[in-house]
Amino acid sequence: MTAIHPSILSADFANLAAELARIPSADAVHVDVMDNHFVPNLTLGLPVVEAIRAATDLPLDVHLMINDADRWAPAYAELGAESVTFHVEAAGRPAQVARALRSHGARAAMALKPKTALEPHLGLLSDLDMLLIMTVEPGFGGQSFMDEMLPKIAAARRASDALGGKIAVQVDGGINRETILRAAEAGADTFVAGSAVYSAEDPDAAISGLRQLVG
Ligand code: DX5
Ligand code: ZN
Repeated sequence: MTAIHPSILSADFANLAAELARIPSADAVHVDVMDNHFVPNLTLGLPVVEAIRAATDLPLDVHLMINDADRWAPAYAELGAESVTFHVEAAGRPAQVARALRSHGARAAMALKPKTALEPHLGLLSDLDMLLIMTVEPGFGGQSFMDEMLPKIAAARRASDALGGKIAVQVDGGINRETILRAAEAGADTFVAGSAVYSAEDPDAAISGLRQLVG
């Protein structure tokens, strides 16, 4: 099953409720939480994600680009996010974080920056519901897809398949009508798209367009 997750990083932050209403066919809303420490940018945190939760019925896919994931990640599951993604580089005890997320009813997801290898972390897969292979350096929307991540996407797909295929393989960064084809061919099934959706005149049509390409 493929899924399109528009990122509201590219939406108008002064009009979030209206921006959420423009993407009714999204499979989930991707919410980028940044702390200006793990990444060189600052976005929003718990109170705003709580407000987003109340403003839409769409599932929330929270992507934490913050240090000390161990301390903060469970709170996002508690407020009702459908999935919470922490970065392995920012987690002291990733398996425990993943279990805490699941115990709060969320899907547990782990992200890898472009320079982080997948192999050393494959032992964590049984505690995860989704792997996020970053296809740009995290921090900003509107960057170009890194083709050199395609082998890592393929390796994530193989690792998921080896465990029965239940672990989703998500890509985030530079996804558009061209790059989504290469990412899908490599084995991704869940696609985050920020600028490709919100720079379109009709964001919901942009979502359908992307879905048609990989459906
Ligand atoms: C970047 C964020 C992405 C961002 C993607 O660090 O994690 O979710 O919104 O934006 P685009 O699709 O424009 O690359
Ligand atoms: Zn993201």
